[in-house]
Amino acid sequence: MNFKLVVLLLLSATACQSSDKPEQEEDTKKVIMDPHSYAKPEESVVTHLSWKATVDFENKKIDGQATLHLKNSDDAKEVVLDTKALKVEKVMIGKKEVNFTIGEPDKDLGSSLTVPIKSKTDSIIIYYSTSSSAEALQWLTPAQTAGKKRPFLFTQSQAILARSWVPIQDSPGIRFTYEASITVPSDLLALMSAENPQEKSPTGEYHFIMDKPIPAYLLALSVGDLTFKPLGDRSGVYAEPSVIEAAAYEFEDLEEMISAAESLYGPYQWGRYDLLVLPPSFPFGGMENPKLTFATPTILAGDKSLTSLVAHELAHSWSGNLVTNATWNDFWLNEGFTVYFENRIMEKMYGRDFSEMEATLAYQGLLAEIEDMKNSGLGNDTKLKLELTDRNPDDGMTSIAYDKGYLFLRSQEEKVGREKFDAFLKDYFTSNAFSVMTTESFINQLDQKLYKKNGLVMDTAKINEWIYQPGLPADAPKPASDKFAEVDEEMSRFLTETAANDLKTEGWTSQEWLHFVRAIPDNLSKDQMKALDDAFGFTKSGNSEVLSECLVQSVRHN
Ligand code: BES
Ligand code: ZN
Repeated sequence: MNFKLVVLLLLSATACQSSDKPEQEEDTKKVIMDPHSYAKPEESVVTHLSWKATVDFENKKIDGQATLHLKNSDDAKEVVLDTKALKVEKVMIGKKEVNFTIGEPDKDLGSSLTVPIKSKTDSIIIYYSTSSSAEALQWLTPAQTAGKKRPFLFTQSQAILARSWVPIQDSPGIRFTYEASITVPSDLLALMSAENPQEKSPTGEYHFIMDKPIPAYLLALSVGDLTFKPLGDRSGVYAEPSVIEAAAYEFEDLEEMISAAESLYGPYQWGRYDLLVLPPSFPFGGMENPKLTFATPTILAGDKSLTSLVAHELAHSWSGNLVTNATWNDFWLNEGFTVYFENRIMEKMYGRDFSEMEATLAYQGLLAEIEDMKNSGLGNDTKLKLELTDRNPDDGMTSIAYDKGYLFLRSQEEKVGREKFDAFLKDYFTSNAFSVMTTESFINQLDQKLYKKNGLVMDTAKINEWIYQPGLPADAPKPASDKFAEVDEEMSRFLTETAANDLKTEGWTSQEWLHFVRAIPDNLSKDQMKALDDAFGFTKSGNSEVLSECLVQSVRHN
């Protein structure tokens, strides 16, 4: 079966304000394929979602009523939505119930939901409930929370799981605004990727508004025994009561981080920026849900040493949430730009030495993963532009999109100089805000607005090598850290009989420790391993990155 469907890409009007008008206009109406959605937006596209829902913890389901506002072509006959394991009870147009069709389920894509409409149909209402297999919904028992008393629910929609809790056009190229009215148990707080409450409502009813258009993968909901603490005028943190103080301490510098980001690439567009610290089973480090980043509690190291994760999710407020990859084949546009931006925020806040340590750690990881992927027959996935048709888009979630994407952008910065590159990026985020980007359209903009505009010539063959060839070009940037050279020096002193306690480790950050633990050679004896742990307490580290690296080494050394 071929599920390729067509997405109409309408570049925003602002994209045409450039001086390079002819090329831009060619792009204005372009049809691109999203292989991971059944939607046919050129016929009927969702522009607004009005969602009513009751969260039923007892039966682990959500009963929902989704009113979808539509924009139709003149000859529209149906609207096609994405669903996955949803139980659709009925579909109404005005006061009339209509016949709908649910397509054959695909294990990754779920089922299409087709509703007959007329060109003038401005909205449809879908009555439905979620099933126990809804993949975006994580229902936690009280035992799985910090407080141990109340259950917890959170969603994870990226990449194509929004369809398992809302019937929607689940393609990153389709944006809509939303509002929601939700009922939850009256002692729990509900939060969404929207304007959020800061306290519990005694009735358990909450209302949400997201007035900026977002793609479905940024729909998010969390319900639990949560409390709020402000961090600045437009930022704060939500967490379970027993975690809130630690969270507020860890993220103390958030306001400064937002300002650092704005000083690089322009104003933050989403109003408030809050963080939500989830229970430990949250499956990612972080998720950039608009206005409310979801984060793992494992970043609460106690010493602010893992906050680059916050810089990363914050950076997505520009790269990803403002300028969005058109399909999951262009995922590197979301993550590569975000890693680049994250690195620049860290440099701005903590200096080049620090950001270069992080870049070097990522680079080591990237080289290892490229080698791994080649050896396991996944060489094709080491290209920036992916081919994920008939595959799960999560297959694209490798360090290629992140760290090869980062190195590519860094190569462009190094080629033209930081000043020109920053001006290009700032304009890129502004002129493409709230619209979608394909890899090809990006290359076109790079050529026009970075190279031609500055009287330079783009090396197209090199750009194509980066994007369409596996692995890294031979002349790729090679991040290297002087600080790590000093760490290597201490490791060789240890290996040549200097006692662990006599090593010069004063003032080391967790990045230096991470590098040190990674540098432990294969032939280190058990006694030497123990000596290191006794001296430096790796196995007691509150820094999850250091701890996990140390546990890997412990396994490798039996
Ligand atoms: N958007 C991603 C998480 C994601 C990607 C979820 C693809 C589902 C599919 C998020 O911004 C991210 O990259 N998180 C990283 C942390 C980051 C510091 C590299 C993570 O969770 O590991
Ligand atoms: Zn990311």
